[in-house]
Amino acid sequence: MRIGFIIGSLSAQSINRRLLHGLQEVIGNRAELVELRIDELPLYNRDLDGRFPESAINFKRLLKEVDGLIIATPEYNRSMPAALKNALEWGSRPGGQNAFPGIPVGIIGASTGRLGTALSQHQLREVLAYLDMPTLGQPEFYHTFDAAHFDSETGAVSDTNLYRRLGDWATTFFDHVEKHPRGTERS
Ligand code: FNR
Repeated sequence: MRIGFIIGSLSAQSINRRLLHGLQEVIGNRAELVELRIDELPLYNRDLDGRFPESAINFKRLLKEVDGLIIATPEYNRSMPAALKNALEWGSRPGGQNAFPGIPVGIIGASTGRLGTALSQHQLREVLAYLDMPTLGQPEFYHTFDAAHFDSETGAVSDTNLYRRLGDWATTFFDHVEKHPRGTERS
């Protein structure tokens, strides 16, 4: 199984990247994980619909190649980050060439706030519904980041509760992907 992932943060220190690495560790060889980078995408402008930049072409190509997608989103001002929304704009255009429909998707997110990205994830779900993506409903994965849950040298998840939660989420996500095999929209 080939699973794409998007980190909704551009920060080199991103706690969402750290959480995703934790998930990757828990997943092990159960799936091939490939990153769909969003940091080189310019701000979406429909004037470029006829001449997509290389970064956007690559982004859309990878969307065609994956069996499922994981989005690890921060929460910025009670919303998803602009960089993530921007990537959704690119993937959905030009009109009639939306690359997202049918891709089974799961959302996780870490923030330093108590709500653990609940509000940004809720908003993201609305957009993914519009993009026609089957989205994993449960378990939700809201995470209030604590650096003590990760090994300071290797970045490995050291907290047993977090490790278990990530494992449970991954198992249900893989079931979700298997229940929503991709079809002709891929070609
Ligand atoms: C935040 N942060 C934040 N946290 C939260 O729980 N709810 C929020 O609405 C916000 N708003 C917000 C806005 C902006 C512009 C920034 C930079 C930060 C804090 C946020 O959770 C923290 O910076 C995380 O580290 C962001 O995730 P990444 O970028 O490290 O993955």
